Amino acid sequence: MKTVLSLKLNGRDRDDVVPDNMLLVDYLREMAGLTGTKIGCDGGECGCCTVLVDGDARHACLTLAASCQGSVVETIEVLASDGSLSDLQQGFHEKLGAQCGFCTPGMIMAAEGLLRENSSPSVADIKGALAANICRCTGYIKIIEAVQWAAEQRRKENVA
Ligand code: FES
Ligand code: FES
Repeated sequence: MKTVLSLKLNGRDRDDVVPDNMLLVDYLREMAGLTGTKIGCDGGECGCCTVLVDGDARHACLTLAASCQGSVVETIEVLASDGSLSDLQQGFHEKLGAQCGFCTPGMIMAAEGLLRENSSPSVADIKGALAANICRCTGYIKIIEAVQWAAEQRRKENVA
């Protein structure tokens, strides 16, 4: 069975005919061409595939594309604009939060979901938001510093 999936993907309305059993991660990578979302474990264990669905971090490898009917879906590709990195992307650069980088898109999207809700997260808040994201390079301190750096930029922008 197939479904006409209508959703807003990275700010653009889309309508696609998708198999009912198509995973969101496959829809994003293969149908929408958004390969920034990575597949690591393909089983809900690593967080590489994290995207935002209606603002909430979601494992795209555990989500059926058809379940996103009418939703707002955001991937890592939505963050940079006009060739400029987002604050979180810049934070990962500044603080060396990305090593091999494979986990990074999922980390950044999970952190994006956090910072939209909480612009002054504690270390515990950041660890909680990233608890479902595994970095095999084990550079978690730098990742936390990257999120803190971005949060600070966001607070400064909100004051200015
Ligand atoms: S690829 Fe989805 S959680 Fe690992
Ligand atoms: S930077 Fe290597 S897995 Fe995260």
